[in-house]
Amino acid sequence: MRFQHKVVIVTGGASGIGATTARLFAEEGAKVVIADYSDKGREVSRTLNEKGLDSFFVQTDVSNEDAVIRMVGNTVRRYGRLDVLFANAGVASDGPTDQIDYEVWQKTIQVNLSGVFLCNKHAIKQMLAQGEGGSIVNCGSVHSFVGKARVAAYASAKGGVHMLTRSSAAAYAANGIRVNTVCPGYIETSLISGLKEEMVRYLQAQHPIGRMGTTEEVGKAVLFLASEDASFITGASLLVDGGYTAV
Ligand SMILES: NC(=O)c1ccc[n+]([C@@H]2O[C@H](COP(=O)([O-])OP(=O)(O)OC[C@H]3O[C@@H](n4cnc5c(N)ncnc54)[C@H](O)[C@@H]3O)[C@@H](O)[C@H]2O)c1
Repeated sequence: MRFQHKVVIVTGGASGIGATTARLFAEEGAKVVIADYSDKGREVSRTLNEKGLDSFFVQTDVSNEDAVIRMVGNTVRRYGRLDVLFANAGVASDGPTDQIDYEVWQKTIQVNLSGVFLCNKHAIKQMLAQGEGGSIVNCGSVHSFVGKARVAAYASAKGGVHMLTRSSAAAYAANGIRVNTVCPGYIETSLISGLKEEMVRYLQAQHPIGRMGTTEEVGKAVLFLASEDASFITGASLLVDGGYTAV
């Protein structure tokens, strides 16, 4: 029960990595705010409540600053404080540089990088006002570190998340706020379930462990980084990638 009495926001908590991680936080005692663009987040929250766990849903577009301010405001109104942010909401994006429409580029950067920035900004303001520190985990990717032909926009955003994390870690360490990034390899979620069978086999083979990861495997790493078990870790990007970047 590492998160008893802790208040946690999980963005993108309506599905995939976010939904699993929200459940893991709640099972360890946290009060969990599911913040997502999709109304499916309400269902995730209700399922947690039915298990006797504490959670509510806030519909949020992380790329809209007013919505992010409301997300933090609603959290504090309901639970009185904010201790942990998992800035996880993201969208997939495909294509090499010469074939990416500018709208697709902008959307990818707006959600995957600016959305993380906005959530970090307003979570940090709240944590500073509380004066008791806090912990932020941002969602990067193996593409925070390695490019591939078809991930130009996605990797640009995820590389940015890696550096935003390091900059914030340096800025707020003295305030007891730790900021880290979790960097998953390919994980079995809706982001990749639309891919062709041949592509799925190719992606599996990219991981020396021989398979894609599970949402639980990422969620457990997020809880580690967010918890006191990681009390001397800040500015780190933890790869959870089955060896994808090792080769
Ligand atoms: N699945 C993978 O292989 C993989 C690998 C590395 C990193 N990631 C990252 O993990 C994170 C979660 O992805 P996932 O695989 O669980 O996908 P997912 O599609 O299951 O979940 C993403 C969630 O983000 C939400 N979202 C999208 N845009 C939003 C916005 N503007 N405001 C609020 N919520 C928004 C979606 O509604 C969805 O619930 C993303 O940041 C993704 O880039 C995923």
